[in-house]
Amino acid sequence: MKIITSVRKMQAWASKRRAAGRRIALVPTMGALHAGHEALVRAATSSADDAVVSIFVNPTQFGPGEDFDIYPRPFEKDVKLLGAWSPDAVAFAPEAGEMYPEGVQADRLSVSAGALGRRLCGAFRPGHFDGVATVVLKLFHACRPDVAVFGLKDAQQFVILRRLAQDMLLGIRVMGVPTVREADGLAFSSRNAYLSPAERKAAVAVPQAVRAAQEAIGRGEQRRAALVEAMRSILRRAADARVEYAEVVDADTLQPMEAIAPGQRVLAAVAAYFGNTRLIDSVFTQAPAADSASPRKP
Ligand code: PAJ
Repeated sequence: MKIITSVRKMQAWASKRRAAGRRIALVPTMGALHAGHEALVRAATSSADDAVVSIFVNPTQFGPGEDFDIYPRPFEKDVKLLGAWSPDAVAFAPEAGEMYPEGVQADRLSVSAGALGRRLCGAFRPGHFDGVATVVLKLFHACRPDVAVFGLKDAQQFVILRRLAQDMLLGIRVMGVPTVREADGLAFSSRNAYLSPAERKAAVAVPQAVRAAQEAIGRGEQRRAALVEAMRSILRRAADARVEYAEVVDADTLQPMEAIAPGQRVLAAVAAYFGNTRLIDSVFTQAPAADSASPRKP
C-alpha cells in the first residue's frame, strides 16, 4: 500500500489523479483503526475511484489535560489493516511539521466552527471543533477529494464538517456513515482501549440511553425534559458513570428545544465519563409526523 508523508507529494498525487479524471474519496482519521473506520474506508472505496485515508493525531483539537500524549499510535498495525480493507488505498500520514509548519503554538489563522462548535461537546471542550475544522480544511487542501467520509458516531463533528464544506463552497460531498457497534451496542472507538473491564461493562449504558431516547421519540414523546430524564435514568444505573450531558437537539442547528415538533429531525446525544475515559454516542432520528404523533382516538 502506498504511504505518502508530505503535503507537497500528496497534492501532486491528487492533482495527477484528478487530471486523469479520477474521483478521490478521503477518510480522515487519527489512526488506531477499528471496525468503525473500516466501514468508512469501504464506503470511500465504493463511492470514488481512489480512496485516501489520512492518519494524523491532530494536536489542535485536544485541550490541555486531554489525552493527546497517550492517544494510541499503532502505525504499523494501521497500515496492515488498511492494506487488508482496501489494498489500493493511499495512506496520508504527515508529521505534525507538515500540517503545522510554524508549530501549533504559533499565532496562526484557524477556522472557527462558530455557534455549532460551542454546543454539546463544544461546551465542555472549548476550541475542540475549531481544531477539527482547521485540520480537516487542511486535509482537504492536501488531498483534494471529491468526497469526504465521516462517521455519524461523532454527530456534532459531522454536522460541523458538512457545514464547512457547504458554507466555504468547497465543492466536496460530505458523506455520513452509520455508527458501527460492538455486539452489546457500544460504539467502536479508539478510546474504548482505555476502559477497565468493569468500566467496559458499565459503558453499555451509553448506547442504551440514546436508544431509549430514540424509542421514546418514535412513540411520540416530544418533551425534552422527559427524554433527558429517560437517558439519565439509564446512565444512573451504570456503576461510576459521570454524565457530562444528555441532550436532545435539532439535527441541523444542534439547538435544544423544550418540545420536539412533529416531523422534526433531532439528535439524541450523550457524553459520559467512565473513570478517566470520556465516551460519546448519539442517534439521529425523526419525530413522527403530526397525525401519527397525536393520541389515537378510542
Ligand atoms: P477518529 O476518532 O479517528 O475518527 C475518524 C472517523 O471515524 C470519524 O469520521 C469518526 O466519526 C469515524 N468513526 C469513529 N468511530 C466510529 C464508529 N464506531 N462507527 C462509524 N464511524 C466511526 O474523528 C476524528 O478521528 C478526528 O476528529 C478527525 C476527523 C480525523 C480530525 O482530526
